[in-house]
Amino acid sequence: MSQPRKLHIKSYGCQMNVYDAQRMVDTLAGEGFVETADVDDADLVILNTCHIREKASEKVYSELGRLRAAKDEAAQQGRKMNIVVAGCVAQAEGNEIIRRAPVVDVVVGPQSYHHLPQLLAHAKMHGRALETEFPVEDKFGFLPPPSRQAIRARGISSFVTVQEGCDKFCTFCVVPYTRGAEVSRPVAKITDEVRRLADNGVREITLIGQNVNAYHGEGPDGRPWPLGALLRYLAEIPGIVRLRYSTSHPRDVDDTLIEAHRDLPELMPFVHLPVQSGSDRVLGVMNRKHTSDDYRRVIDRFRAARQDIAFSSDFIVGFPTETEEDFCATLALVSQIGYAGAYSFKYSPRPGTPAADMREMVSAKEMDERLVRLQELIDSQQSAFNKAMIGLTVDVLFERPARNPGQIVGRTAYLQPAHVLASPDSIGQVLPVAIESLERYSLLGRLVAPPMRPAPAPRSSTPLQTTVGA
Ligand code: 5AD
Ligand code: SF4
Repeated sequence: MSQPRKLHIKSYGCQMNVYDAQRMVDTLAGEGFVETADVDDADLVILNTCHIREKASEKVYSELGRLRAAKDEAAQQGRKMNIVVAGCVAQAEGNEIIRRAPVVDVVVGPQSYHHLPQLLAHAKMHGRALETEFPVEDKFGFLPPPSRQAIRARGISSFVTVQEGCDKFCTFCVVPYTRGAEVSRPVAKITDEVRRLADNGVREITLIGQNVNAYHGEGPDGRPWPLGALLRYLAEIPGIVRLRYSTSHPRDVDDTLIEAHRDLPELMPFVHLPVQSGSDRVLGVMNRKHTSDDYRRVIDRFRAARQDIAFSSDFIVGFPTETEEDFCATLALVSQIGYAGAYSFKYSPRPGTPAADMREMVSAKEMDERLVRLQELIDSQQSAFNKAMIGLTVDVLFERPARNPGQIVGRTAYLQPAHVLASPDSIGQVLPVAIESLERYSLLGRLVAPPMRPAPAPRSSTPLQTTVGA
């Protein structure tokens, strides 16, 4: 039998890239590839790239510089190392990559990675291959279902893509260009994947999409289903104890979603809802299609449906034309909402987006200062939220052994890591934990025997990396 070929894949950016990387591994497993953590040992290296901000996309070229040395080294040992650039930089700068980086064998956009086996074969015959079209077929229909082994490697919590792309065209954002128009997967396809994951030990599913609550996939009745209906359906699947979704757009929060939060104990009360700015004028120039009051009203609807709900968000500081007054409106909104955590970024002009042509730039110094002020406020809210957990008994879904011997670690409803001394038998279960202390972002506690009193509602956590979008 021939030796399996080794594949090393490195993903940058959002949750969808993490999911896509897993699907590329699944696809290439069918071609006899197994994953390796050691890049120098790999026969195939895939960089799954992110184009959302300049810093993210520049990483590709520095990484390719390092890979050139690894490829040369492999060649000296008589081995061929193939290098693939996938993801959003591949989509946006495919030709440029081919021109600038001779080390690259294949460039493949995020809509075409199901063609990887053919592209690798093409590169072998003809030198190099580039595919960044948006193929008409649905790539999900062509991807093999994940193998048992691949699912086990995923552990207790898994992402599942339910929609991709975005039709909102915020003026700063590359997503509508790199991921294309919004497409939703049919309910039956998603349900099959979730059942398969649940049968193989997955207990928590995070539905992901760049604009996840624009979901309108075909339901079993042949009609488009909204996200709330999908969540209700998935909550019935045996073995699934927690559901989450990310990333949402404030404009697409409909009553089915609010009602799902009201009715489904499986649906975690923690929502990532980017607002980007608190200034209506800036929101207008960003083409966000909502005002700050629209956003406040959406938050109120969630809170009315589920008292213990908490939020995280994304913010951009220094968007072109942003004044001190605009920025203060952002601080005021943050103070008013009270977040469990949030991501904040300095505006980064992206080629091809409308905002990249705007002339009234905010100076680098002002951007830096605003970022610090915003992050201080967010950090203080996050610390307060985390501290408020001490003394409470909260449900934790245990995921894996912790680094400290004898401990296992899981996550609260708000994605805070929680550590307890317990046997690994508890991995995969949701158990009540009395929270005793906080170490940086991690909660420490002890298992308490059920039945427990429900914990009073806390107000805020360390959000996981989110899907780029919305
Ligand atoms: N500059 C800075 N931040 C950006 N984001 C998206 N595009 C840009 C950009 N050009 C941020 C938004 C989005 C998150 C995923 O990344 O806040 O919600
Ligand atoms: Fe779409 Fe979100 Fe990007 Fe706006 S920020 S264009 S909603 S992905």
